[in-house]
Amino acid sequence: MIKLKLNGTNRQFDGDPEMPLLWYLRDELQLNGTKYGCGRGLCGACTVLLNGVATRSCITTMKSLAGKAVTTIEGLSAHGDHPVQKAWKTIAVPQCGYCQSGQIMQAASLLKKTPKPTDADIDSAMSGNICRCGTYQRIRKAVKIAAGVKA
Ligand code: FES
Ligand code: FES
Repeated sequence: MIKLKLNGTNRQFDGDPEMPLLWYLRDELQLNGTKYGCGRGLCGACTVLLNGVATRSCITTMKSLAGKAVTTIEGLSAHGDHPVQKAWKTIAVPQCGYCQSGQIMQAASLLKKTPKPTDADIDSAMSGNICRCGTYQRIRKAVKIAAGVKA
């Protein structure tokens, strides 16, 4: 049995220890805010926080989660009011929206580690999160708004 914390709630998992976390979130818990993109750790659509650090849930096995804390987009804030979420709304970052929960989780992870990021910090942290709609300019601007640095 694997014990983990998910969005602040203790959980026990008895299934296949090799199953990716993304499957657990979407198929077993219906936490569908975390998206499936490539399934290979290459696009960032499935990004969640693992002990506060951005992590690709499609390549994270359940067995690796024992004693750890997972946060999904549904658990990032109680009312959608995390600074990153507020900034995203302020300038209406999303287009189709598919990549955006992953982008938000990646940005939240960045600001936790680096509260006042430079352009280079932002580019480096966000470079693995693909947006087919090309919202990269607005993403960078929103990260700066959330950080309170000059956009
Ligand atoms: S679905 Fe996980 S990185 Fe693409
Ligand atoms: S908003 Fe469409 S893929 Fe990013």
